[in-house]
Amino acid sequence: MANSKYKYVKSFEVDDMIMQRYTIIIHVDARDFCRFSQLHNFEKPNDEKALELMNECANAVLKQFPEVVFSYGYGAEFSFIFKKETDFYKRRGSKILSLIVSFFTSTYVTKWRALFPQKELKYAPSFRARVFCCELLQAYLLWRQEECLWQLIKSGKSKKKAQATLRGSLYQSFNIDFRQGTCILKTKVEEIVKHKADGSPVIRPRSKVLTVHSENIASKRFWNENKCLSEEELGQFCNALKKTRPEYIKYWNFQYESRLKLSTWIVVRIDGRHFHSFSDDHEFEKPNDARALNLMNACAVAVLEEFRDVVFAYGVSDEYSFVLNKDSRLYQRCASEIVSSVVSFFSSTYIMRWNEFFPEKEMKYLPYFDGRAVCYPSSEIKDYLAWRQVDCHINNQYNTCFWLLVKSGKSKGEAQNELQKTQTPEKNEILDRLTGVPNYYDTLPPMFRVGSSVFWDKETKLVVVENCNIIETGFWEAHPQILEKKVDRFKALQNIVLIFFIASSMLALLVTNLFSN
Ligand code: GTP
Ligand code: MG
Repeated sequence: MANSKYKYVKSFEVDDMIMQRYTIIIHVDARDFCRFSQLHNFEKPNDEKALELMNECANAVLKQFPEVVFSYGYGAEFSFIFKKETDFYKRRGSKILSLIVSFFTSTYVTKWRALFPQKELKYAPSFRARVFCCELLQAYLLWRQEECLWQLIKSGKSKKKAQATLRGSLYQSFNIDFRQGTCILKTKVEEIVKHKADGSPVIRPRSKVLTVHSENIASKRFWNENKCLSEEELGQFCNALKKTRPEYIKYWNFQYESRLKLSTWIVVRIDGRHFHSFSDDHEFEKPNDARALNLMNACAVAVLEEFRDVVFAYGVSDEYSFVLNKDSRLYQRCASEIVSSVVSFFSSTYIMRWNEFFPEKEMKYLPYFDGRAVCYPSSEIKDYLAWRQVDCHINNQYNTCFWLLVKSGKSKGEAQNELQKTQTPEKNEILDRLTGVPNYYDTLPPMFRVGSSVFWDKETKLVVVENCNIIETGFWEAHPQILEKKVDRFKALQNIVLIFFIASSMLALLVTNLFSN
């Protein structure tokens, strides 16, 4: 990130490192699953294929992230448990949470077709996630498995049926996944990878992902049967836990909650994970690929349409910043829910719309994104956006020069050396010399030079994408509605009623006093 006078806005970022003594759990849950399952005609109360899809996604997460060692889920939720000692992304909550939920969502959309070949995805599905910090993993598992049973009972509708469920008759009629939930865990196996010249096998330990079920995943028996749930990876085991009641294992015991400050602009910044490789492997044009950038823009438009509290977005390269209205109450301003929902919805849309922008290109593997939330109290929000746009300009000018030098026959090292210590005017000279076009940089498409701004157009009432200068005040003067404080109509009405009530009481008091005198 380049230096500029706006860089001070970085100091608003807060650290969300999770302490070492806790096991990190990421809980992923479908957003508005009721609507999604209705629209896609899922079977009631449980759809086997939908559950299978969830299991496949969880499986993929365990394969993708070596630090996740265990996972438990049912219905539309899954919990991912990290090795106790993990140092994954320096234990930064939002980073870990966003990567997991984004990868989970990308997998969900990609695998949908295999599980539902007859059903078209009607809209981009998304998940929200929370971080749980846990001292005793067993307690968490006990709580989730009790919830699994409770969900099943609830789906039995009447009280009588619920009781029958508990007694066992109806309960047994449900598929084991529905009754007990699904555990996915990693185990080490020895595999023959090749044979030596003398025919002797070369054996290497490999990590294998297993799916298992148990009626009590918090029990000693289950942990003994699955040696991979070793204490060194998952923390101590407590024999006395079965005596603890679910009331003790309350939600608030685990949740790592960070609420974002009231009356501040919330910025959710997402960034493509390993896009350096992803863009190479998908042969994006260098340094800017208009199709890739337009796909990012299309996803940003979808985010503004889905989350009405997002009033503005700015994107460049593989990143997008979403600005939420100062008075937003989205998810009670809970950082993890806001970040995860936006990043998940963005990922889902990216996969679903890939073909529109790259009709001739197969996606070779799944792209996914990380995210974080930062609050800005007032005018700093414009400085934040200016900071991102300055960054766009500096990086783009450097990259344009770099790739032109490489194209002209220089090695990457030589190009790097030539550009070292050059300022904007020298870079412009290099560009003009290499292309023979005066002021070459200015001839590049504005989307490459200034990035993309996304907002609701007040005339057409549609979300628009513009490539304009947002550093100078002109843009904000022309669109004052974007960052204006939204008036809460209900609150305003409440205040008017209150003022009217006070005024009429005072008047009544005055009149009574006058007459009594
Ligand atoms: P992490 O974000 O840390 O996971 O790494 P990253 O590889 O995604 O790098 P970073 O986010 O710092 O930078 C984004 C990278 O995406 C750039 O360095 C480019 O390599 C690549 N990229 C983004 N947009 C384009 C594009 O339009 N064309 C090409 N060729 N590459 C792009
Ligand atoms: Mg990136």
